[in-house]
Amino acid sequence: MTSVLNLTAAPVSSTLDFSRSRTLQPRAHTLIPGGAHTYAKGDDQFPEQAPGFIVRGKGCHVWDLDGNEFIEYGMGLRSVTLGHAYEPVVEAAYRQMQLGANFNRPAAIEVELAEAMLEIIDGADMVKFAKNGSDVTTAAVKLARAYTGRDLIAICRDQPFFSTDDWFIGTTAMNAGIPRAITEMTLKFGYNDLHSLRELFDRHPGQIACVLFEAEAITPPAPNFLYQVKQLCEQNGSVLIFDEMITGFRWHLGGAQKFHGVVPHLSTFGKALGNGFAIAALMGKRDIMRLGGLDHDQPRVFLLSTTHGAETHALAASLKTLRIYREEPVIDSLWTQGERLRAGIEESLARHRIAKHFELAGRPCNLIYRTKDRDGTPSQAFRTLFLQELIRGRVLAPSFVVSFSHTDEDVDRTIEVVDRALNVYARSLEDGVDKYLVGCPVKPVNRTYA
Ligand SMILES: Cc1ncc(COP(=O)(O)O)c(C=O)c1O
Repeated sequence: MTSVLNLTAAPVSSTLDFSRSRTLQPRAHTLIPGGAHTYAKGDDQFPEQAPGFIVRGKGCHVWDLDGNEFIEYGMGLRSVTLGHAYEPVVEAAYRQMQLGANFNRPAAIEVELAEAMLEIIDGADMVKFAKNGSDVTTAAVKLARAYTGRDLIAICRDQPFFSTDDWFIGTTAMNAGIPRAITEMTLKFGYNDLHSLRELFDRHPGQIACVLFEAEAITPPAPNFLYQVKQLCEQNGSVLIFDEMITGFRWHLGGAQKFHGVVPHLSTFGKALGNGFAIAALMGKRDIMRLGGLDHDQPRVFLLSTTHGAETHALAASLKTLRIYREEPVIDSLWTQGERLRAGIEESLARHRIAKHFELAGRPCNLIYRTKDRDGTPSQAFRTLFLQELIRGRVLAPSFVVSFSHTDEDVDRTIEVVDRALNVYARSLEDGVDKYLVGCPVKPVNRTYA
């Protein structure tokens, strides 16, 4: 083994040096398609001048292979809500691990976590756990198809991601290997566009099993939109599914369904459910969920049955995480720190007079940014430049999604770094982005060709 594969970080350095990362990157690409196990973490998603590998994290800070320290946002694709290596959660998982990770019969903690989840998501009657969000959205689709005896499904065309499985990825530009017959069963409607959903029901009467979407992603729902979608589903005998992978435990402890006061028939959770541990949940009404059980005379649905689905330490981590959400002001803090960040960045945008070219969007608990060029056209080159300049200031922020560990000091430091990055951004709008950008622009994840 070469020294670079000894994956401890180099001593903390005062200047940014990525030499260890640069050595490991080609090896990663030789061994792993895409060089990473999640496309959103890939080299094509970050500037050339970026850390290649993270070695450890604590709170909202991470250290890369070269010993560089960064304030991180988004953290584990929004899964780490409390903070990296958050001690009470790590301890709960560790204690459970010492009792054994997996048995031939269910672990008692499965029931304990089910009770905790159902207390929080009060519109649901039953829950089934899994490891990934994709598994539970796919399970929701299968269950809805079995419950209704229909094949077609409707998903929202304006929201970026629901699952790694064929029924969704087949509808993206990265659909190689997916039979057209599967993709043709997925129909699309527009967010806040009730008319487009009504049209689908009219065109395919009695054939749509479910309507699946995020109750809110970046754009808030128009007044009554969610309620009217539910009505439309019920009038047409279709199952309403909310994907709460991002909204769950961010918008509100009870999810977007509680925040907006519309209870779906099924909903899916993941990400924030385990503070980075692998856990997801399908929840919903008993008369639908029970088709995955043993107490009915309908054809049985093979609902989420995997070897590692109830790995005990992930359940213990989740139980502890949920307890912390209930006992500490976690969600309030996501909103207030996100708001503090938004206000600081907006002030900076006004100072640099570039508000037309850089947009903050989303709720404070889920803040993202959009970059635009001189003409106001969305620009990946400007996104890359902004990321590059943030990294120069030791902030790693593909989004501005905060955690409970982001302190006032972290946020204020970030605002200073953003201000400097926006200064370069403003100059690039004048002089051309190529003058300041090192390497190639980032690319969308779901594209047809590399
Ligand atoms: C809204 C939404 N649904 C589902 C998923 C899939 O979750 P996972 O990556 O855990 O399979 C994601 C992942 O980013 C997501 O953002």
